[in-house]
Amino acid sequence: MRLALVRCARVRTREALNHALPATDSGRDCLGSLCIRFLDAVRRGHIQTGETIMFDSMRDAEQTGLGFPVPLSEKYRPKKIADFIGLEKTRKVLGAFAQRPTSSAWLFVGASGVGKSSLALALASEIEAEFHHIPSQKCTAQTIDDTVRLCWYLPRKANGFHLVLVDEADRMSSAAQLALLSKLDSTDPPPSTIFIFTANQADGLENRFLSRCRKLEFSNYGMRESLAAFLAKVWYSETGSEQGPDFARIAKESTNNVRDALMTLEVELLAR
Ligand SMILES: Nc1ncnc2c1ncn2[C@@H]1O[C@H](COP(=O)(O)OP(=O)(O)O)[C@@H](O)[C@H]1O
Ligand SMILES: [Mg+2]
Repeated sequence: MRLALVRCARVRTREALNHALPATDSGRDCLGSLCIRFLDAVRRGHIQTGETIMFDSMRDAEQTGLGFPVPLSEKYRPKKIADFIGLEKTRKVLGAFAQRPTSSAWLFVGASGVGKSSLALALASEIEAEFHHIPSQKCTAQTIDDTVRLCWYLPRKANGFHLVLVDEADRMSSAAQLALLSKLDSTDPPPSTIFIFTANQADGLENRFLSRCRKLEFSNYGMRESLAAFLAKVWYSETGSEQGPDFARIAKESTNNVRDALMTLEVELLAR
C-alpha cells in the first residue's frame, strides 16, 4: 500500500504539494514524511516546480536525498524476477512470460511474506508496464470499474502493458468477482492489460473467476537455507560484519516468511 502511494506521488506543483501535505502528514506516515522532505527540497531549489517525480520504491526515494530509514523488507525488496530467493518454478514461468507478455490474468497463491506482491512489481518493472494497485480490502466493483477505465484511457508506451495488481483477492466481494468476469475474458477486456491477483488461498473465489486465471503457487517449502543465506547477506551489508545472530534459526522461526524474518533481523540489528 505504502509502495503504491509513493509510486503515485506525482507532484506537479508546489500548490499540489501544499494541498497533499495536510491530508497525508500524520507524523508517522511515510508518505507524509516524504512530502515534508519533498517540500523542503522544493524550497531549497533542489527540485523545480512543474517537475514530475515518480518513485519506484522507498529506496529510490531515499536515493534522491529525501531519505528516511526504511524497513529492511523495503530496502532489500528484489527488483528483478531473477533476484528472488526460492520460488524456482514461479521465477521460471514469470521470467519466460516477461520475455513475451500477453494480456492475461494470474492468481498468485501462497503464504504471506513470500514475495507475491513484490514479484508482481518486479514483473511490472521488467516489462515496463503502467502499474495500478488495488490494495487489500479495496477491491470493490467500483474500484475495478475505475481502474479498468484508467487502462482504457491512460496512455502507455508503444506496445506497452498495464499491470493491475489486486492484493488479497480472496477477500474481494462476489460483486467484485462478477464485475471482473467479462474483463478477464474476451467479452470486455481492457487493452493490453495483465491482471495479477494475490491470495493466501483460493478458497472462497468463484469457479468462474478461477477458470479465467493462470494459477501460480508460491511455496516457501525448502527455502530455509536460501533464506538464512539471504539474512546473512543483509546482515553483512548493514553491519560490515560476518558475525551475527543464528540466521538459520531466524529463518526457521519465521516459517520461511521472508518479511517476518527481516523484521526479526531488524530487532537484532537494534540489539547489537
Ligand atoms: N522470495 C523472496 N525473495 C526475496 N525477498 C522476499 C521474498 N519474498 C518476500 N521477500 C521480502 O519480503 C517482503 C514482503 O514480500 P511481499 O511481496 O509483500 O509478500 P506477499 O505479497 O507474499 O505477502 C518484500 O518486500 C521482500 O523484501
Ligand atoms: Mg502481498
